[in-house]
Amino acid sequence: MEPIYLDYNATTPIDPEVADVMMPFLKQKFGNPSSSHWFGIITRKALINAREQAANLINCKPEEIIFTSGGTESNNYALRGYAFANRHKGNHLITSSIEHPSIIEVCKYLEKHNFKVTYLPVDKNGLVSVKSVKKAVRKDTILISIMHANNEVGTIQPIAKIAEVANENGICMHTDAAQSLGKIPVDVSELNIDLLSIAGHKIYAPKGIGALYIKQGIKLEKLILGAKQENGCRSGTENILEIVGLGKACEIAKQNLPENYEHLKAMQDRLWNGLVREIPDVRLNGHPEKRLPNTLNVSFLNMNEYFQISLFLEIAASAGAACHSNSFTFSPVLEAMNVPIEYAKGTIRFSTGKMTTKKEIDSAIKKITEIYNTQIR
Ligand SMILES: Cc1ncc(COP(=O)(O)O)c(C=O)c1O
Repeated sequence: MEPIYLDYNATTPIDPEVADVMMPFLKQKFGNPSSSHWFGIITRKALINAREQAANLINCKPEEIIFTSGGTESNNYALRGYAFANRHKGNHLITSSIEHPSIIEVCKYLEKHNFKVTYLPVDKNGLVSVKSVKKAVRKDTILISIMHANNEVGTIQPIAKIAEVANENGICMHTDAAQSLGKIPVDVSELNIDLLSIAGHKIYAPKGIGALYIKQGIKLEKLILGAKQENGCRSGTENILEIVGLGKACEIAKQNLPENYEHLKAMQDRLWNGLVREIPDVRLNGHPEKRLPNTLNVSFLNMNEYFQISLFLEIAASAGAACHSNSFTFSPVLEAMNVPIEYAKGTIRFSTGKMTTKKEIDSAIKKITEIYNTQIR
């Protein structure tokens, strides 16, 4: 029997409707969107349509969307691109200590190139304080990058308020929305941000596709040099197959947002209530309210890697951030939140998705309880 999949923050299956719209581009519609003949026109139209679908989801203009190879590239392009293109304005950046490695590693890279970076701490719920952002702002600050929602614990950051600080000080505001998109509303005009990263495989599109929202007027130094595709921002013949998939996934995410939210939340709450009922000492990591509706990061007191190993045979969940770890190491996010070691060791991230059923949740509660009981004996 396959394990129960509760790792939607790591990746999602491809929505069957997404797969359907991709199929013709896998089989027949192979033209290069830059070609002026019929074959090129067909794929160019598909590209235009996908850009509109992505723009609609986050409420921006289609020309403000650039397709990339995923969340990692979008984050790299946003930070490196902005820092190098705007160095004349200053060389200081602000981020948080719980960002995804595709932000933290870029910041470290920038530090090697003489940029200065402030890594803001978080409180015990994983929240960045707006006050700390204000305090960190300097005359030479050019960019603030704070994730919209954390991948491990799901805490949602006060992005609109942080963006206000950025705007008041003439600083560019980037947010990594890889985890929030499709789960909670993401509106770039309401949030008032300049750059926003999208990862396709978190919203039921394929892996290896993403997008970056670049507000009109924001200048980035190009990351991938060559011909003039993607408004001259990213060279290389477009990955039309996956772009079409991402476009459809964005359309579905927009259409289904309220019902998707309710479903994710109901499944997550059912799992949490079941765990609390059955297991004496469980601890929820992440903000009690300001949290993604699907993310349940739970610590089981005095459990260890054997608990995790047994659990993962039955349930596909994550011990840390699944994207970059499958060995037992302390997650920097739990560390930044000061989760006590006796809890941190037995931490599992469960994340529900739109395909999650009540039956799966009930069966997961039963299995987790059984495994927990064998471990404490
Ligand atoms: C918050 C966050 N940002 C960025 C990424 C990277 O996205 P991708 O896997 O598309 O490169 C992830 C993936 O786990 C993520 O959770």
